[in-house]
Amino acid sequence: MKKFFRYTLYAALALAALMAIGAGFVSVRGIPKYTPQKLAVTVEVTQPRIDRGLKLAGMLCRNCHFSQTTNKLTGRNLAEVGTQFGVVNSLNITKDPEKGIGKWTDGDLIYFLRTGVRPDGQYVPPYMPKLPNISDEDLLSIIAFLRSDHPWVDANPTELPPTQPSFLTKMLCQFAFKPFNYPTKPIANPDTTNTMEWGRYITLYQLECYACHSKDFKTNNYLEPEKSEGFFAGGNMMLGLDGKAFPSRNLTPDETTGIGNWTEEQFIKAVKFGLRDGKPALRYPMLPYSQLTDSEAKAILTYLKTVPKINHAVPEI
Ligand code: HEC
Ligand code: HEC
Repeated sequence: MKKFFRYTLYAALALAALMAIGAGFVSVRGIPKYTPQKLAVTVEVTQPRIDRGLKLAGMLCRNCHFSQTTNKLTGRNLAEVGTQFGVVNSLNITKDPEKGIGKWTDGDLIYFLRTGVRPDGQYVPPYMPKLPNISDEDLLSIIAFLRSDHPWVDANPTELPPTQPSFLTKMLCQFAFKPFNYPTKPIANPDTTNTMEWGRYITLYQLECYACHSKDFKTNNYLEPEKSEGFFAGGNMMLGLDGKAFPSRNLTPDETTGIGNWTEEQFIKAVKFGLRDGKPALRYPMLPYSQLTDSEAKAILTYLKTVPKINHAVPEI
C-alpha cells in the first residue's frame, strides 16, 4: 500500500514538473509565428467599393480601431476585453507608412484579414475577428476603403504600446487558436433575393453577431459558427464602459428566453438604434448598427428565427 502511495506521489511530482516546463515553454515561446502566403493581387479602388467598404468598416473595424483622440483608425486600448486575454491594444491601420499599414500590399491585407497572419508571420489571436467567410467583393471593398481619402484613414503617426497577451492567450494559441486556411475557392456575394440566406450571410459572416451572442469567446467556432457552443443563446460575459460585467442576450427564437415573439419593428429598433420598449437602451459593446438598411435588419431576423431554439434565461444585470 505504502509503495502505491509513493508511486502516486512520484507520478504527481513528475506531472507537476512537466506542467511547469510546459508553462515555461508557453511563456517564452509566446504566440507562434506562421509563414504567410504572398498574394499578387491589386485591388481596384472604385467609388462603389469605397462606399461599401466604409459601411462595413463602420460596423466592424471602427468599433476597435477608432481613436476618439485622433478621430482616425489609429487604434486604442480595448479595456472591454478584460484582463483574461492580456492588455490588448488595437493597432494603427491608417495609411501611415511607418506606424500604420501604408506599406502593406493589398495581398498582405487580404491574407491577414482572412487568416489572421500578418506579413511578418505574427498571428493575431481572436481578439481581432477575422473574415474567413466574407465574400471576396466585400473584402476588396474594405481594402478599397482603407486605401481611400476618407478622413478616418488619413496617414497619422500615432503609436500605441504593443499588446501584451496573457499566459492564457499564449497557451490557447499553442493548442486552440490557429490561423484559418486561406480559402481555396472564390467566395461569391450572397443571393439577396433569398432573405434567409442573405440574413445568414450578414449575421454569421459579415457582422459575426454570434461571436458575442453565443456562450463564450473561447468556445466559438469562427470558421463554422453554427458549431459554437450555446449558439446564439447569449450569456457571454462582456465588460461595459464602467468596467462592470454583464451578459449578451439570447437571440434564438425561444419564445420565453429568446426573441421568438419579437416583431420586425422591435428588432429594427434594437439593432439599428439600441432601443427597447420599456427597458434601458442597449449598452456598449452592443453598438447600434445604424448603417444597416431596414431590409438588411429584417433579413437578419428572418435568419435568427431559423436557428435552433435554446431555452436559456439570461439575467438582465
Ligand atoms: C474586436 C476588435 C477588432 C475589430 C472589430 C477589428 N480589429 Fe483589427 N486588430 C485588433 C487588435 C486588438 C489588433 C492588434 C492585435 C495585436 O497587436 O496582437 C488588430 C490588428 C489589426 C491589423 C494589424 C496591424 C499591424 O500593424 O500589424 C490590421 C491590418 C487590422 N487589425 C485591420 C482590421 C480591419 C480592416 C478590421 C475591420 C474589417 C478590423 N481590424 C477589425 C482588434 C480588432
Ligand atoms: C461586441 C459584442 C456584440 C456584437 C458583435 C453584437 N452584440 Fe448584440 N448585444 C451584445 C450585448 C452585450 C447585449 C446586451 C446589452 C445590454 O444588456 O445592455 C446585446 C443585446 C442585443 C439585443 C437585445 C436583445 C434583448 O433581449 O434585449 C439584440 C436584439 C442584439 N444584441 C442583436 C445583435 C445583432 C443582430 C448583432 C449583429 C448584427 C449583434 N447583436 C452583435 C453584444 C453584441
